Amino acid sequence: MVLENSPNLFLQKLHHQFMSFIYRNDLQKLLPLYSSKWNPHLFGQHYQEHFAPLINKKLKILEIGVGGYEDPYSGGDSLRMWKQYFPNSMVYGMDIVDKKALQEDRIKIFQGSQDDEGFLKKVVAETGRFDIIIDDGSHRNDHVIQTFKILFPELNNGGIYVVKNTHTFYIPSYKNWSNFCKDDVAPHWAEYGGSLDLYDQKTMMNFLKRLVDCLSHQEFIHPGYTPNYFDKHIVGIHFYRNQVFIYKGDNTAPGNVVENNTLRPDFLQEIGINSLAELKLEFPAIDAPTKL
Ligand SMILES: C[S@@+](CC[C@H](N)C(=O)[O-])C[C@H]1O[C@@H](n2cnc3c(N)ncnc32)[C@H](O)[C@@H]1O
Repeated sequence: MVLENSPNLFLQKLHHQFMSFIYRNDLQKLLPLYSSKWNPHLFGQHYQEHFAPLINKKLKILEIGVGGYEDPYSGGDSLRMWKQYFPNSMVYGMDIVDKKALQEDRIKIFQGSQDDEGFLKKVVAETGRFDIIIDDGSHRNDHVIQTFKILFPELNNGGIYVVKNTHTFYIPSYKNWSNFCKDDVAPHWAEYGGSLDLYDQKTMMNFLKRLVDCLSHQEFIHPGYTPNYFDKHIVGIHFYRNQVFIYKGDNTAPGNVVENNTLRPDFLQEIGINSLAELKLEFPAIDAPTKL
């Protein structure tokens, strides 16, 4: 049987290699070759848009979630795709299952959980900072938030952090799920810890929405406000269907009418007052995103 199938398999492999070479500069076409997942075109077009300017750079790319779940010999499709697309880059994978069997030239894989701070720090100590991080791992809301808090600071300036499959933030925990669905639920779906409540503070989507305000922290009228790490280092956030791209850089330039979180003297003069206190504003507390 194996012998009968092998010429076929060989031709399939050859075809795959040929096509991935032809499409090596286009993630929209490359992704369907490396992924049988739901709607690869949807993800591919945004990867292409954001990664094309970086294609020939020498980068360190980390993808959390190698694929293949419990099988140590299965998965690694996206790692191989990044290797093909970024010819000068090193690709790192991370999975809770030992996937080291899938390592090859320019692909190194670590075993550990994405919410384990000690493990993540050890990885960074070995690899150095990353230029691109893609979170396609457990998709648990608490994990995704925890991983972002630990790994975003380990991204180089100009780097991009991608959170994939954000649909899991709308899938409630098993307890809630069972309230409206009598069918059996696969365990990993039950553990995502999303919510039916769009304003539920514990979901990754709300964490990401809170990060949007970080972009404008220099515009906050809030004397005494202390900018947090994400305020100072997030320079762009792009939301798409099931995919979010967060750009890192220097976000410390002063605001338009605000400087050091108070109104600038020239603006006070323009509106005809001597100090902000004259406006008798009340300043609600602003929690850091890390509190979410
Ligand atoms: C959706 S698959 C990744 C697919 C792969 N990125 C691709 O596109 O080919 C998710 C992977 O995350 C891994 N995973 C699950 N929980 C994890 C955790 N806590 N930390 C790291 N990886 C985890 C699973 O073992 C699985 O292989």
